[in-house]
Amino acid sequence: MRILLGGIKGGVGKTTLTLLLGRSLARRGRKVLIVDRDLIGWASKVLGVTNDEGLLNSVLEGRTDGYYASTHIGKGKLGVVRFYPVSHTFKTSVDFVLRKPELMEAVSKAYGELLLDEGYDLFIVDNPPNVLPSDPVVKLEVQAFYKWTKADVAHLYVSDPTQFGIEAVVRYAEYVQSDPELIPPVHRGLVVNMVRPLPDEEAMAQRKALEACERIMADLCGTIPFDDSLFDYGDRSEEYPEEVNNLAAQVAEWDDS
Ligand SMILES: Nc1ncnc2c1ncn2[C@@H]1O[C@H](COP(=O)(O)OP(=O)(O)O)[C@@H](O)[C@H]1O
Ligand SMILES: [Mg+2]
Repeated sequence: MRILLGGIKGGVGKTTLTLLLGRSLARRGRKVLIVDRDLIGWASKVLGVTNDEGLLNSVLEGRTDGYYASTHIGKGKLGVVRFYPVSHTFKTSVDFVLRKPELMEAVSKAYGELLLDEGYDLFIVDNPPNVLPSDPVVKLEVQAFYKWTKADVAHLYVSDPTQFGIEAVVRYAEYVQSDPELIPPVHRGLVVNMVRPLPDEEAMAQRKALEACERIMADLCGTIPFDDSLFDYGDRSEEYPEEVNNLAAQVAEWDDS
């Protein structure tokens, strides 16, 4: 299964949840690959990728290393691939590769070597804010991915706890749903992450989250508390809020169903 983390805003916890879910699912024995499709490259940086080129620019430069890291966690495994360069030039590279079949082939091949050789069965895709299935940064990675595997898709939307934030995510989820290039998700979830709630905002956010989940027909609906240990990519800590493990358990169920 491929779980796409998405949302309309930055700073709401998409990358944090990508890392937390990845680690929690690996601890459950899954072989998880985080696909860092963000253009800031935080998830891959936290997990040990130091090269800024990403898979895309590395391949353009004739190299097939430097964009991947992995570690074993118990019986599971957690890997990460930085797909795009951490540079404002990413767009030029994406457009260039999409126009040249032989380069697209080389990118797919480098990706495929990772996807097939390393035995991953669960993919968590971290995204920049506000991307659509028909955006070139999505299409390029999707094309390269589905050349090798048939994973079902699940969407996990992430919002901050503000009323405007939640409403904007619902509209975004509906808009994604109407994109002509959408691969229809078999599951849809919404997580309201309490980055940092104002007084009284938390209870309102819980109610709003339930309404929003109904509107987008989410079969997973959660909230994550504000927690100092999660600040600054606290995924290195061994202790998570219970809500994070519950979320990972629900995602594992998606994967099993
Ligand atoms: N539940 C939380 N409690 C405390 N800090 C959080 C929480 N979720 C995210 N953060 C912090 O908020 C900041 C933004 O999170 P990030 O995952 O980068 O958001 P996004 O990927 O949506 O831009 C980071 O510093 C992160 O550590
Ligand atoms: Mg992010």
